[in-house]
Amino acid sequence: MSLTYTWLGHGTGLLTVDGTKILVDPFLNDNPKAAIKADQAEADYILVSHGHGDHIADAAAIAKRTGALVISVFEIANWLGNQGVKTHGQHLGGGYHHPFGYLKLTQAVHGSGLPDGSYGGNPCGFLLTAGGKKVYLACDTGLFGDMSLIGDEGLDLAVLPIGDNFTMGPDDALRAAKLLRAKHIIPVHYSTWDLIAQDAEAWAKRVEAETTSKVHVLKPGESLSL
Ligand code: NI
Ligand code: MN
Repeated sequence: MSLTYTWLGHGTGLLTVDGTKILVDPFLNDNPKAAIKADQAEADYILVSHGHGDHIADAAAIAKRTGALVISVFEIANWLGNQGVKTHGQHLGGGYHHPFGYLKLTQAVHGSGLPDGSYGGNPCGFLLTAGGKKVYLACDTGLFGDMSLIGDEGLDLAVLPIGDNFTMGPDDALRAAKLLRAKHIIPVHYSTWDLIAQDAEAWAKRVEAETTSKVHVLKPGESLSL
């Protein structure tokens, strides 16, 4: 059993679970720091956390080209389904046994308006039990105390935004790390633009000084295998 997370830049990642490719929040073509372009992306499944363009921009095109099943909240699944995309709708607190593992949608403190102004429902994060590991993708969110409940699950990996302005910044992401108690942490959603520029290496030192988590600062295209 194996699980690998590859950061593709911004909030976009590729989880590979025993050979199954799960693409998260694909934003590649208009992302100045992306490791690949959308037409190079591979996916068996695509997870979409919310409706903002920097998470959903390339989802429909990649899903149509690859035939990937898109998993998101019910409202976004319907919106993509109306564009001819294969979808599976879930909702906050609900889990489902997909072929690759058990995926539960968690709360996220954020917005979720879709690019055309449609209602996207509530934004979410993802808690994945797969490949013998437990992974929490916070996606776009502010700090919330119930991260402690997610931490109670016993996390192998937490992928956390640190960019500030739109999501948690370094100080709140450090508090999140204390609540989540994950063995490994990967910071994302920073330095895509000057507005969310952060020193991830400095943040990693703070987290490792104040928690038992190991922080992995990746460059776009780099991976962590658990
Ligand atoms: Ni957002
Ligand atoms: Mn975002």
